[in-house]
Formats: sequence, structure tokens, C-alpha cells
Amino acid sequence: MNVVVLTGAGISAESGVPTFRDADGLWEGHRIEDVATPEAYDVKPSMVQKFYDDRRAALAQVAPNPAHEALARLEDVLGEDLLLVTQNIDDLHERGGSRRVVHMHGELLSALCRSCNRRTPWADGLSDFPPCPRCGVNELRPDVVWFGEVPYEMDRIQRALMSTDVFVSIGTSGAVYPAAGFVQLARACGAQTLELNLVPSEGSSFFAEARHGRASDLVPLWVDEMLERTTL
Ligand code: APR
Repeated sequence: MNVVVLTGAGISAESGVPTFRDADGLWEGHRIEDVATPEAYDVKPSMVQKFYDDRRAALAQVAPNPAHEALARLEDVLGEDLLLVTQNIDDLHERGGSRRVVHMHGELLSALCRSCNRRTPWADGLSDFPPCPRCGVNELRPDVVWFGEVPYEMDRIQRALMSTDVFVSIGTSGAVYPAAGFVQLARACGAQTLELNLVPSEGSSFFAEARHGRASDLVPLWVDEMLERTTL
């Protein structure tokens, strides 16, 4: 059985990572477009670097929750038959035990060189504009996919969606494309579709089934169901 899981900020919310679209519409006190567009970086690079440096440093204060850990248990059994795609830039899936994670919107723990276009694992700050370890040019930016940029690994994700048996979306508002459209592609290609979210997402009606509640409750239960199905 092939399974594609898409996760969003809601899976990390109970770990203490703020979601993007809280009631006040701000992300850590900033409008998303002020820190998550190439234009914002062109105008205020230091402010944008500091914003992501703070988010990167904050990773040390958070830990994976039972939802991340449950998905790692699923990977242990399904192996390559599971594709875990996350919109999250934190590393909580990896710390929860998942080994094969597609970070379609990039990663805080990676830097992207605007000069040579290569990606480098990066745990420190970028605010002092250090040189790229690969080409030496001081043009490292957060390796985060901003609005107007193309998400990573779209070909691989689309192929998986077209051949999967099950598509599950966890903790995402369904407000941002292309991820918000994955359910329609998977369903059109014959997959069972399930939403697990605190409240109905914007795309909730596209799913054949939706369950609403906390990810740390819903995901372990769903994984138990899947593991029962795979061992029958
Ligand atoms: N359990 C399950 N779902 C939750 C929980 C929880 N404990 N807490 C919040 N949620 C849900 C919210 O109800 C909301 O629908 O998670 C969703 C989070 O939505 P967003 O904040 O919009 O995050 P996300 O969908 O991941 O955003 C997509 O937008 O700004 C961009 O690139 C950024 O990857 C991000 C993308």
C-alpha cells in the first residue's frame, strides 16, 4: 500500500512552533509577506535574516510530539511506500524519527547561496552574511521557499500523488498552493483521501473523509489503523 502524507504547521503547533495563520493573521508578529517573499529580502535583508535566525534558534526550545513520532512508526513499517511531504521548515519530523522527509518549502537548517544556487546544511545564524562554504560569496539566504518561488521536488511529489492508494493531509489550512491542490490530484487518480486537522480546512470538502481534533490525538490513532490494515 502506498501512502502520501502532507503535513503543515498544525502538526508542530503542540510542540510550541506557532502556525502561520493564527487568529491575528501574523507570524510571530510579522505579516507573512514582510518576511516570506524575495521582494522583502531585497528590501530588508537584515530584518529577514534576523527573523529566520530567531526561528532557527527557537528550534532548540521545541521537541517532536506524538504526531511526529507516529508518522515515524508508519515509516518503519511502510518504508519507501510512504512519502512524507511537509510544508514545515522545522526539523521535528526528523527528530521524531522520520528519515525520508520531503521539505517542499525548504528548511531552517539549510542555507541557499544566491550566487552559486547550492544548498548547505546550516545551524548558525546568517545575519552576519557569512561566505558560502561552496563558492565563497557572501550571498547566503535562508533555504526557505518564499511566495512566488517554486517548491522543491514537485515532480517527485506529483508522481507519488498520481499513484498513491492513500493521501492524508495533517495540520494545514489548505490556503497555500500547490500543496492545497494535492488532494484533488490524488483523489482524481483514485486515492482514498483523509484530512486530519483541528478545524475544517479551506479545502476540507475535497476530502472523502475529515476528522477534526488535535494532531497529537488524531495522528497516532490513524497510524494504528494503517498498521492494522498493513498487517492483515
Ligand atoms: N492539530 C491539528 N491541526 C492544528 C493544530 C493541532 N494541534 N493547531 C492548529 N492546527 C491547524 C489550524 O487549524 C490550521 O488549519 O493547522 C492549520 C495551520 O495552518 P497554517 O497556519 O496556514 O499553516 P500551513 O497550512 O502549514 O501553511 C502553509 O503557508 O506561509 C506559508 O510557507 C508557509 O508552509 C507554510 C504555508
